[in-house]
Amino acid sequence: MIDIKNITKTYGHGGDAYTALHGVSFSIAEGEFVAIMGPSGSGKSTLMHILGCLDTPSEGTYRLDGKDVSTMTDDELAYVRKDKIGFVFQAFNLLPRTTVLRNVVLPLVYANVPSEERDARAKEALRSAGLDASHFSHLSNQLSGGQIQRVAIARALVNEPVLILADEPTGNLDSKTSLVVLGTLQKLNREHGRTIILITHEPDIAEHANRIIRLRDGRIVSDEKNPAPRDATRETKLYDERDTAASLTNKLP
Ligand SMILES: Nc1ncnc2c1ncn2[C@@H]1O[C@H](COP(=O)(O)OP(=O)(O)OP(=O)(O)O)[C@@H](O)[C@H]1O
Ligand SMILES: [Mg+2]
Repeated sequence: MIDIKNITKTYGHGGDAYTALHGVSFSIAEGEFVAIMGPSGSGKSTLMHILGCLDTPSEGTYRLDGKDVSTMTDDELAYVRKDKIGFVFQAFNLLPRTTVLRNVVLPLVYANVPSEERDARAKEALRSAGLDASHFSHLSNQLSGGQIQRVAIARALVNEPVLILADEPTGNLDSKTSLVVLGTLQKLNREHGRTIILITHEPDIAEHANRIIRLRDGRIVSDEKNPAPRDATRETKLYDERDTAASLTNKLP
């Protein structure tokens, strides 16, 4: 599905030029769940912007579903983003003072989905992202961090993209909420066959992916299969059991 060869990205010109990616190559097949790891400044977001057709490489080739992205016009790129790719950015990308449902309906408006279909599809996406229906009419600034992330995931899903790109989707969340978000991504991958690229700098988050690519200073330093990915849904249950046990212990005389 994704095939990049010798991707280089240089920002700026002349003496101010900075090369954030130095000849990065890999292929990702449909249905993979890949984590891209690396310290701050290693080029993760730069790479995600290129993979998401939000930016173009300075050199190298990017083929998405066999098509060379560098030869596409701006209209074609916009169409690819709308049709194939779901982005999960950080929480603040939701529109404030706008309901949860409206936030998820918006990508469908841009994609020219008929108005009578939009609400049903948005609600379905919210349910598969694990948000309870009682929150659908809340304003996005009346939600917890974990609920906001679920809305962000629903918004990324609603146009049924084949590729989901998530940049630090658990960045500001506590451990339990992070697991819930990871569980949602794993479910989308396993049960719905979505290809997922998850960017993180935390090793224990990356261990939920089936493959881990490590970047350092704009270069790939390793690209390995993860033979035993952690199961976020199972870990969430263990958390709940521990919380229940703790609350029972507190009630002991
Ligand atoms: N628009 C830009 N102009 C100039 N330099 C940039 C630009 N965007 C990123 N860079 C530089 O490219 C390098 C890689 O940045 P990038 O945002 O890809 O890192 P990252 O791995 O996502 O880091 P973080 O974990 O902090 O988000 C950094 O040194 C950064 O300063
Ligand atoms: Mg980044």
